[in-house]
Amino acid sequence: MIRNSLMTTLSVRNLITETMNLKKHIKVSDYANRSAIPIRHLQIGFQGREINIEFYRNNEFATIFFATLSVFLTYGEDLVIETARHHRDQLKDPILKQRVTSLIGQEALHSKLHNEFNDAIADQAINYPVKLYRFLGEQFFDHIFLKFPQPLKLSLMAGIEHFTAVLAEYMMEHEEAFYATDDAKTRAMWMWHMLEESEHKDVAYDVYQTLNGNYPLRISGFFLAYFTILGLIPFATLFVPALRKPKAMLTPKFWKDARRGVRLIFSPKDGVFGSTQNKIWDYLRPSFHPNDYDNSAHLAYFEKKLLEEGGALAPYFVKQFIPPVRN
Ligand SMILES: [Fe+2]
Ligand SMILES: [Fe+2]
Repeated sequence: MIRNSLMTTLSVRNLITETMNLKKHIKVSDYANRSAIPIRHLQIGFQGREINIEFYRNNEFATIFFATLSVFLTYGEDLVIETARHHRDQLKDPILKQRVTSLIGQEALHSKLHNEFNDAIADQAINYPVKLYRFLGEQFFDHIFLKFPQPLKLSLMAGIEHFTAVLAEYMMEHEEAFYATDDAKTRAMWMWHMLEESEHKDVAYDVYQTLNGNYPLRISGFFLAYFTILGLIPFATLFVPALRKPKAMLTPKFWKDARRGVRLIFSPKDGVFGSTQNKIWDYLRPSFHPNDYDNSAHLAYFEKKLLEEGGALAPYFVKQFIPPVRN
């Protein structure tokens, strides 16, 4: 009993000391010893009629959630590209600069391919309200997020990248989720994106810690990313069925599918975001670093498996490129 209360007092004291010595906890990765990040070009050629609306675990509602994420993430990626470009010039370390160039290249190609996918889901076959949601995304980013001062944008960029890293890790642990249907093109897009988000997960954080490192500002970026990814995107998803196929909402099948879809995303037991809340909130720990979660085994496994003959990316892979190290 006495021992337990002593341990609790000690851990509370540790947390307080950790929070008070924030500067001591500015961690960056040992990037000089990490492998260079390749930029992979893919050519997929999406067609609306080939896209399966039940792609994610045979569930329409969860698939619509990911379609909404696909529309909005292109704006998030554009913000990451703009912010990373702005801050790259202030970095002194040539290796970190090279990693930022890789981040920019990967995000530019994600944004391009997701835009092609988004064009395809506007097709009659899917009838996703792409035009309206693009308009809303553009307004939101142009008038709010892109107007932020650069230090806040840098912290938001690190926050967004934390969410994509957690999402990528969840997906790597649930590989079967990509194989529920035979929609090979959508699978290639999401698996390629998953691999690259995990590859560059420490870059934005390292840039933030190198150039700024302020803890309250880092947390502000986290909450903005949280509000967008787990507030606005699910909220926007709720309206898609009514805009897409309102009649289908009158059937019990729709509500059964929607209930299952909500569980697939938010269930604390095994939902994409529900079961990863611990990892998401770990970002608040002053000594947090993305590489506290070792992804090397997953990266090695997926890079080999996806790109080898017969792999999910192989039919669409065009070339890859590693940016040179420049001073
Ligand atoms: Fe991305
Ligand atoms: Fe990213």
